Amino acid sequence: MQKQTVVREAVLEDCSSLTELAWQLGHQAKGEQIKTRLLDLLRRDGHKVLVAEVGGKVAGWVHAFINRPLHKDTTVEIAGLVIDQSYRRMGIGRKLLDAVEEWAKNQGCDQVTLASNITREGAHQFYQAVGYQRTKTQYIFRKELPK
Ligand SMILES: CC(C)(COP(=O)(O)OP(=O)(O)OC[C@H]1O[C@@H](n2cnc3c(N)ncnc32)[C@H](O)[C@@H]1OP(=O)(O)O)[C@@H](O)C(=O)NCCC(=O)NCCS
Repeated sequence: MQKQTVVREAVLEDCSSLTELAWQLGHQAKGEQIKTRLLDLLRRDGHKVLVAEVGGKVAGWVHAFINRPLHKDTTVEIAGLVIDQSYRRMGIGRKLLDAVEEWAKNQGCDQVTLASNITREGAHQFYQAVGYQRTKTQYIFRKELPK
């Protein structure tokens, strides 16, 4: 029998799974960093961290936040999304985005946006399969500030 996928809010006890999956996303964050950040996000309005649990195992997570630019419509933006490599192509990514979209509507937002590295071809196919359209290509700029 196929195990049920449950989407729920992330809690601090999920931190080691969140960290492991962050590595699969390509970000070598330390467990303590993830814990500190999650604690901070859980206290903030306008952020949502959801996990998908399959048979008691955290098989994926998504972090979304409300972006309110001065000059453009408010959007819910996906900051990160990853599904454990052993659980891909089972509809879990789609379920997490469904939950984010529901949250966005409840927040009065009528669009969800995200940026995705040009190297993530599988992810681009996924986003298009679940109804997202590619709207533009951008460069990301960064400046390291002196401590
Ligand atoms: C991209 C990702 C989140 C998709 O999650 P997932 O749970 O595997 O996706 P789903 O099973 O919900 O896929 C839904 C549909 O999207 C499409 N799709 C998903 N992954 C795909 C891939 N690698 N290639 C082509 N199409 C894909 C398919 O049409 C799929 O439906 P199907 O399996 O019935 O054909 C997952 O592959 C992942 O975590 N990748 C690594 C991290 C990453 O790139 N994150 C996004 C950063 S922007």
